[in-house]
Amino acid sequence: MREKERMDIRGPRLKKQSDEALEFTSSMAADGRIARRVIEVNMAHMAALVKSKEVGADTGAKCLKFLARASSKISSDTRSEDFHQQLEQDAVDSLGVETAGFLNYGKSRNDQVATAIRMELRSAIIGFVEAIAGLQRALLKQAARQGGTMLPGYTHLQRAQPVTLAHHFLAHFDALQRDADRALQLYDRVNLSPMGSAAMAGTSVKIDRRYVAGLLGFSGLVRNAMDGVSSRDVAVEALSCMTMAMLDASRLAEELILWSSAEFGFIELSDAYAASSSIMPQKKNAVVAEMVRAKAGSVIGDLVAACAILKALPYSYNLDLQEVTPHLWRAVDDATTSLRLLSGMVGSVSIRPKATRSAAAGGNSTAVALANYLASHAGVSFRQAHSIVGELVRISEKSRKPLQAVAASKLTEVSSKFGRKVELDDDTVGGLLDPEAFLANIFTEGGANPRRIQTELSARRRDLASTESSLSGLGSSLKTSERKLNAVSSGMAREVN
Ligand code: ARG
Repeated sequence: MREKERMDIRGPRLKKQSDEALEFTSSMAADGRIARRVIEVNMAHMAALVKSKEVGADTGAKCLKFLARASSKISSDTRSEDFHQQLEQDAVDSLGVETAGFLNYGKSRNDQVATAIRMELRSAIIGFVEAIAGLQRALLKQAARQGGTMLPGYTHLQRAQPVTLAHHFLAHFDALQRDADRALQLYDRVNLSPMGSAAMAGTSVKIDRRYVAGLLGFSGLVRNAMDGVSSRDVAVEALSCMTMAMLDASRLAEELILWSSAEFGFIELSDAYAASSSIMPQKKNAVVAEMVRAKAGSVIGDLVAACAILKALPYSYNLDLQEVTPHLWRAVDDATTSLRLLSGMVGSVSIRPKATRSAAAGGNSTAVALANYLASHAGVSFRQAHSIVGELVRISEKSRKPLQAVAASKLTEVSSKFGRKVELDDDTVGGLLDPEAFLANIFTEGGANPRRIQTELSARRRDLASTESSLSGLGSSLKTSERKLNAVSSGMAREVN
């Protein structure tokens, strides 16, 4: 057998690059994340070349055999511009340039990297949405277990009105549902193939773009070849989805931190998610929630970095684009891990219903019920009723007695001051201000009335089921296309000797 020709695919055009420049511009350290995808893209592209007879069956078979065995491990001692170059160089070293020299026929690293990023992002989105759904499941579990438990609703971090735990947790659930929906909508925009864009103009080589897209599991094409290699808007959109979910997660994390403090005393965190102090033996710190809160900041940073890199970048490909990708993976990992940890925390937290109820019932938190009653039963406008009850609250606080204790006896006098004379007996006032009655009297859909809990829970279970069915559909269609690519490629690889 003839000695295989050893050649450097950098070509003769340039002399050797400085080591420092190579290290500075290389993406090898970050390419591990997309290496497997790069191999798959090479397979699909070669299959298309063979199918259109741009490459002979024998050459194609050898390349596809090589690709089927190629490792996606990035060795730390190989010095290459990127994995794309490394893979081709390895193929040339192993098959010879007469054969492996066809791997990059009709494609460029520009369309290849854009495609590989989209492929990896598809899986990342699935993992991210699974993590969101996990947190939603934990919230739902707590809402089902202790949904009727009363706790204060806050505005301005001041106790405002009694609500139920289900009401509070389902509020977080719904925000997360929008995060999941957004990510799933983004999936459709990600799931388009740039392959066939080549450098940016398209190519004279006969590539059936739709065939390549199909083998890689894409539902369609990024139509314009220049757009195909230049755009990273799906990365920015993914980063904003991660950011939004992390903003939501961090608000929940913050509440867990507050609620587990002695000042609130609403919950006890599981030890599995807490840390001790190295000096204060009594401490139990909500460190996981603190990290989730902090990771939200890192993810925001990744989004801002990606935007800043892309801003005013001329079309088409510039190496600046390479710098966007690590921010994307960092954010994906931080967001997905944070959501998973938060699910564990929420699922294992124990609630202290006595403490939450007594906090909810104090502070004249049901005063608006009396004002509403005056408006509905005594012909007083709500604004006047608000003033009357406000004055009663002032009296109650001055005399250090709850509103129930002063309202009935002072109502006639106070209402007369506002030009309306209203009388109510103690029982009526007590009934209105009672926190359980307050909740039971909530009329509106989506409100905190405990009678609504079962209906609300069922609706959320349907939301979750729909997310889960979307996820399993996406997951199985990715698996199908992976099998198809392998079948086509190994079929072609087998065809010749
Ligand atoms: N390493 C590059 C990236 O991650 C791949 C594309 C390089 N293209 C080029 N023309 N140098 O974006």
